[in-house]
Amino acid sequence: MSYRVTALPGDGIGPEILSGTLKILEKLSNKYNIDYQIETHDFGGAAIDNYGDPLPKTTLEACEKSDAILLGAIGGPKWDQHPKRPESGLLALRKNLELFANLRPTKVVEGATRFSPLKEERVAGTDFVIVRELTGGLYFGEPKQLEEQQAIDSLTYTKAEIERIAHAAFQLAESRNNKLTSVDKENVLASSKLWRQTINEVAENYPNVTVEHLLVDACSMHLITRPTQFDVIVTENLFGDILSDEASVIPGSLGLSPSVSYGQRGTKLYEPIHGSAPDIANQDIANPTGMILSLAMCCRETFENNAAAEELENIVYQLIKDGVTTPDLGGTAHTSEIFNQILQQL
Ligand code: NAD
Ligand code: IPM
Ligand code: MN
Repeated sequence: MSYRVTALPGDGIGPEILSGTLKILEKLSNKYNIDYQIETHDFGGAAIDNYGDPLPKTTLEACEKSDAILLGAIGGPKWDQHPKRPESGLLALRKNLELFANLRPTKVVEGATRFSPLKEERVAGTDFVIVRELTGGLYFGEPKQLEEQQAIDSLTYTKAEIERIAHAAFQLAESRNNKLTSVDKENVLASSKLWRQTINEVAENYPNVTVEHLLVDACSMHLITRPTQFDVIVTENLFGDILSDEASVIPGSLGLSPSVSYGQRGTKLYEPIHGSAPDIANQDIANPTGMILSLAMCCRETFENNAAAEELENIVYQLIKDGVTTPDLGGTAHTSEIFNQILQQL
């Protein structure tokens, strides 16, 4: 089978971290016989510049026909005042492809505990996945309007939306350590009351999975004080956005975290969880790990090639353990150097 891949470099550090990753993909495809066709398309600010639209029709159509989308990052100060911001293109892409489940793993590998700003003994062994609902909640709820004296965002969830993300999270928990933490704000929000009730109902289908409920404020604290006790965390869109950036710092940097988003259709979107990092763009110092680990997820989930994923992950983690890191982890290596080392080892 020939997989269809769409590459979306985007803005800021996006092109820097994606170009090397595509070279790795090429190398892996030769080594592991992964047959793929790739198209690169404008997206985000780059697409605003070229088409006046962050998600041009040609880009969306290519994505819709793809098995995998590899996205760098989008956004930046240049487009912050544009009527259609790059961010709206990303939201439209997720919504159009109905990518309702976003998996964001956090792992502290053995030999790399020293990169955490937290005490090493506290973070050693951390290995959990945040399952972020991606197409509902405050991001998409109506009405949404901005007036001079008042602004409205609506936090809406249907039961069906909660059920499908709950099933995704329970199934993931079953494939891991049978522990699910559901995060909400049930003491205040109506949507969270429905969330908690629905999680408990869906739980009846998964008797082997132990369910814990946490309020989001307390969860943000528990993530720091007891990160090793989490396995799968499921939460709504905005809470998942915030908690996953917080979680990324447990292993040491926002630049480390990959993600995959999927829905009922076959297309999966792979992207690091960080943004376009305009403050470090074009300096060859961005940490490419989140992007590269996203490709490893793609190897596993879309190409169904565990060997390729494992080899790539092992090389990436070994470089970190050896201290070959970008400045966000205290090293002096350049982005291009990390790519060269990986390509050489492959
Ligand atoms: P950001 O994630 O881009 O950066 C936050 C901080 O982390 C910055 O100091 C940055 O230098 C650092 N950082 C991020 N990724 C890094 C990496 N790979 N290596 C080293 N350091 C890294 O968040 P921001 O600054 O709040 O947002 C910048 C732009 O990115 C905004 O326009 C925002 O909307 C957009 N954004 C896009 C995405 C996406 O494309 N999926 C995600 C988040 C933010
Ligand atoms: C992310 C980003 C996006 C989000 C923005 C850029 C729309 O922060 O992917 O985490 O909030 O989902
Ligand atoms: Mn985010």
